[in-house]
Amino acid sequence: MRISLVSWRIFNLYIATFFSMAALSVSGQCQSHQQQLLLGFKNSLNSSLSEKLVKWNQGTDCCSWDGITCDTSGRVIGLDLSYQALSGELNNSNSLFRLQHLQTLNLAYNRDLGGQLPESIGNLGQLTWIVLWYCKFTGPIPKTLEKLTQLIYLDFSTNSFSGPIPKSKTLEKLTHLMHLDFSYNTFSGPLPSFTSLTNLTELILHGNQLNGSILSTNWSSLPNLVSLDLGRNSFTGTVPPALFQSESLKAMHLAENQFSGGFGEVKGEVSSQLEVIDMNQNGLEGQFPMFVFEIKGLRSLSLSWNKFSGVIPLSAFQKLKNLTTLDLSYNNLSVDSSFTNLPFPNVYELNLASCNLTKFPEFLENISFLQHLDLSNNRIHGQIPGWIWKPRLDHLNLSLNFLVELESPSHINPYMSVLDLHGNQFQGKIPSEIVDFLNSCDFISLAGNNFHGSIPESLCNNLHLAVLDLSNNSLSGSIPQCLLTQMSMWLGVLNLNQNNLSGIISDSFPENCSLQTLDLNQNRLSGKVPKYLANCRMLEVLDLGNNQIDDTFPCHLKSTSELRVLVLRSNKFRGGVNCGGNNVIWPMLQIVDLASNAFSGKLPQGLLMTWNSMKANKVEPYSKNLRYESPLFTGIYFQDSVSVTMKGRELELVKILTIFTSIDLSSNKFEGHIPEAIGDFKALYLLNLSNNVLTGPLPSFLGNLPKLEALDLSNNHLAGQIPLQLANLNFLSFLNLSNNELTGRIPLGTQIQLFSETSFENNAGLCGPPLEVQCDSPPTFKDGPSNSRTGKHVNWNFVSVEIGFVCGIGAVILPLMFCKRWRIRYYKCTDGVVYKFFPKLDPRNKTRRAISHWTPGRRL
Ligand SMILES: *[C@@H]1O[C@H](CO)[C@@H](O)[C@H](O)[C@H]1NC(C)=O
Ligand SMILES: *[C@@H]1O[C@H](CO)[C@@H](O)[C@H](O)[C@H]1NC(C)=O
Ligand SMILES: *[C@@H]1O[C@H](CO)[C@@H](O)[C@H](O)[C@H]1NC(C)=O
Ligand SMILES: *[C@@H]1O[C@H](CO)[C@@H](O)[C@H](O)[C@H]1NC(C)=O
Ligand SMILES: *[C@@H]1O[C@H](CO)[C@@H](O)[C@H](O)[C@H]1NC(C)=O
Ligand SMILES: *[C@@H]1O[C@H](CO)[C@@H](O)[C@H](O)[C@H]1NC(C)=O
Ligand SMILES: *[C@@H]1O[C@H](CO)[C@@H](O)[C@H](O)[C@H]1NC(C)=O
Ligand SMILES: *[C@@H]1O[C@H](CO)[C@@H](O)[C@H](O)[C@H]1NC(C)=O
Ligand SMILES: *[C@@H]1O[C@H](CO)[C@@H](O)[C@H](O)[C@H]1NC(C)=O
Ligand SMILES: *[C@@H]1O[C@H](CO)[C@@H](O)[C@H](O)[C@H]1NC(C)=O
Ligand SMILES: *[C@@H]1O[C@H](CO)[C@@H](O)[C@H](O)[C@H]1NC(C)=O
Repeated sequence: MRISLVSWRIFNLYIATFFSMAALSVSGQCQSHQQQLLLGFKNSLNSSLSEKLVKWNQGTDCCSWDGITCDTSGRVIGLDLSYQALSGELNNSNSLFRLQHLQTLNLAYNRDLGGQLPESIGNLGQLTWIVLWYCKFTGPIPKTLEKLTQLIYLDFSTNSFSGPIPKSKTLEKLTHLMHLDFSYNTFSGPLPSFTSLTNLTELILHGNQLNGSILSTNWSSLPNLVSLDLGRNSFTGTVPPALFQSESLKAMHLAENQFSGGFGEVKGEVSSQLEVIDMNQNGLEGQFPMFVFEIKGLRSLSLSWNKFSGVIPLSAFQKLKNLTTLDLSYNNLSVDSSFTNLPFPNVYELNLASCNLTKFPEFLENISFLQHLDLSNNRIHGQIPGWIWKPRLDHLNLSLNFLVELESPSHINPYMSVLDLHGNQFQGKIPSEIVDFLNSCDFISLAGNNFHGSIPESLCNNLHLAVLDLSNNSLSGSIPQCLLTQMSMWLGVLNLNQNNLSGIISDSFPENCSLQTLDLNQNRLSGKVPKYLANCRMLEVLDLGNNQIDDTFPCHLKSTSELRVLVLRSNKFRGGVNCGGNNVIWPMLQIVDLASNAFSGKLPQGLLMTWNSMKANKVEPYSKNLRYESPLFTGIYFQDSVSVTMKGRELELVKILTIFTSIDLSSNKFEGHIPEAIGDFKALYLLNLSNNVLTGPLPSFLGNLPKLEALDLSNNHLAGQIPLQLANLNFLSFLNLSNNELTGRIPLGTQIQLFSETSFENNAGLCGPPLEVQCDSPPTFKDGPSNSRTGKHVNWNFVSVEIGFVCGIGAVILPLMFCKRWRIRYYKCTDGVVYKFFPKLDPRNKTRRAISHWTPGRRL
């Protein structure tokens, strides 16, 4: 996009002039006190990994040092130490701030260099260009910044600066400023006015916590503003009409805020300059703003995830000859695509998800440059037309429609990377037309259709595949061996859940297996848990539930230390589960479901003790572990969504991903006492040990599990009294102690008593309410419960775990390391996509409790 190149123009222009100037002068002999200052700066930091700094030494002319530019008199005027792996903190007395002739300072991408930005930055009054992108600076920006009155280019993005954006009084003095980038920090508070920055061309405040209305800024006073990016903040109020009337503004990025209202006030002349309008994910409402069709130069229009309503005749877009990107997904719009024979702009990205479409828009037939097409979640019936496979088509999402068949494509772009056809009504065999042609797809989902027959081996020709989701079909036969032998070298996710697959899981996982999720739940697979699955050291989710696997507990998977979800439910597993030895295994485990097998022996105290995630405050932040990145750097990532369903109640996805933990060992033959290790599981939500042959007392340490919401110990041989400590379980909403040998009084005056009779029935000698049996001895507690909660009592059966997938695509990761522009785009895409899939993660949705656990992934 042309817009994002503006900063590179400014940058290049400036740098070119600077270096041509410097080139003339580089022969200047370094002044010795300048040399001392540089060495002092070097010594204040840990520069052991820096290529440039390690070569700086007393013996040579500092003007010849790498990273240094001098003027003719041997004064240091430029310092470029970007990408030098410097670490340490800069403080006020750092000699860097005595290099008073410095005009350019670039410390970008030293990720361990930081601290508070010292006030003495104000000493560098000659600075015209300062870049601290991606360091570790924190705290507020010092007021002394106002002394840098020569600044033209200022980039402090991707640090941890906080506090308000410096008040106008500070920034107002930087009258030469053309480029101001504070993106990806944690600045908060309102937007200051920038009234005197008349030359400001780019203002980038993306990804902070700024709030309030932006109406108070006088946008007319910035006559040179070309690019404005306020995306991903918490701005509220309406969008200032002045932005549409600016005579300079070309790109307006206001996505992911809480802007509301409509565009009723935009009247009169609309600017002819605007090329990019990006307002995805706000609360904009009212009639669709028809005036956008008057902005003739528009290249990109993104209004998805708002509340616009109305009917849009696609023919209106005919006027926008330069349009390349259109995103109207997820509003309350009805896109009318009924016109024909009209030239439509040659878009390359078209997103009309959830736009009430009933057929494929005909104009698409003639659009040859299309790369990205999302028509998901509409009401399109019938056949996928052959012409949909454009020569450059890279991303095709037709999921959640009513498609039944595929017309033979004449040609498929062999470089296509995403194909999502999930949730349609396809039948018959998986069409070879598709799989035979796709050789570089990263993502294929055919889930939730009615495909029959076997899984085509030709899928294995696809040497980039990172996510393959064929779940919820009627596929039969065995799992092609090549999927496991070859594919698992690059495949991150293999989901074959809910099919009719049979045979054994071939034991041929390669040494460099990269699988992170293997979901084979609900098939008819037999045999053993493959031994070489242990090669998949990155495995996070292993779901073999509801098959016919006949094996002992897979202790051999100890090397998969990333495992978070282990589901072996309803198979023919048998024997003990104590793996012996002291090797730490599965410290990350959050969900364990071994129910309905024939496991026996004692519950494994030793193994349980390795499950650190179950213990309080040990659950790792979500973004790190449940996000998968393709090892091929294709930018594919997806999120495992683990849904734990209980009869009559769905748990929130986010909660599950971040903090949810559960243990279900029910319906086995476990014996002996309830092990003490469970008393440490402060993060445990669900514990089901029912239908075993456990003996001994009901331990009081169960009362130490503050998060426990469901406890089922029914159908065992537990004896003795119900410990009073159980009353500490404040969140308990399901309790079943029935069919044991418990005795004595049900503790009075506690919420335990509020459960219904069925929670306690069939015990040897329990008495007192809610049971009708009276106790002989007088009660020890007098306070009776005030009102009964039994009406609210949730009578769900216990846990069954299912794994599903959500996927999205970002941009290419590799260039991100080197190019900031891409990086921003990447953040934008990825975060945006995650929110789309998990609206509940959206920080704007502040009412959700789970939000506080979401920290946006910030990484390269
Ligand atoms: C500033 O940093 C230097 C080196 O990093 C250190 O030696 C010095 O003590 C620090 N000064 C103050 C005032 O913290
Ligand atoms: C300097 O950084 C390197 C690499 O991060 C580290 O190994 C070394 O211990 C550090 N030295 C000091 C003195 O902190
Ligand atoms: C603004 O830019 C113009 C043209 O580059 C320049 O002549 C003028 O001096 C600048 N104004 C300020 C206040 O820097
Ligand atoms: C902006 O956020 C701050 C906290 O960061 C809060 O105190 C203030 O009330 C918010 N202002 C508005 C207008 O929402
Ligand atoms: C906004 O700025 C313009 C141009 O500098 C000026 O003419 C106008 O009076 C200002 N409006 C307000 C409300 O300050
Ligand atoms: C469309 O783009 C072309 C090439 O960039 C440009 O010359 C033309 O002015 C644009 N059209 C409009 C209506 O802005
Ligand atoms: C959606 O649009 C229809 C008419 O187009 C309107 O009746 C309905 O209220 C709108 N729904 C919402 C949630 O805005
Ligand atoms: C979707 O289209 C149908 C007609 O095809 C219409 O009756 C319905 O109101 C539309 N829904 C919305 C939300 O506009
Ligand atoms: C596609 O282009 C052909 C030839 O240019 C034209 O005859 C046909 O009507 C166009 N179809 C659509 C749907 O615009
Ligand atoms: C399975 O697919 C059917 C449609 O084929 C869909 O209705 C159902 O919700 C899907 N089930 C799951 C668990 O995704
Ligand atoms: C396709 O669209 C659906 C529904 O809009 C969405 O849930 C899914 O994540 C999309 N798939 C990809 C690969 O982006």
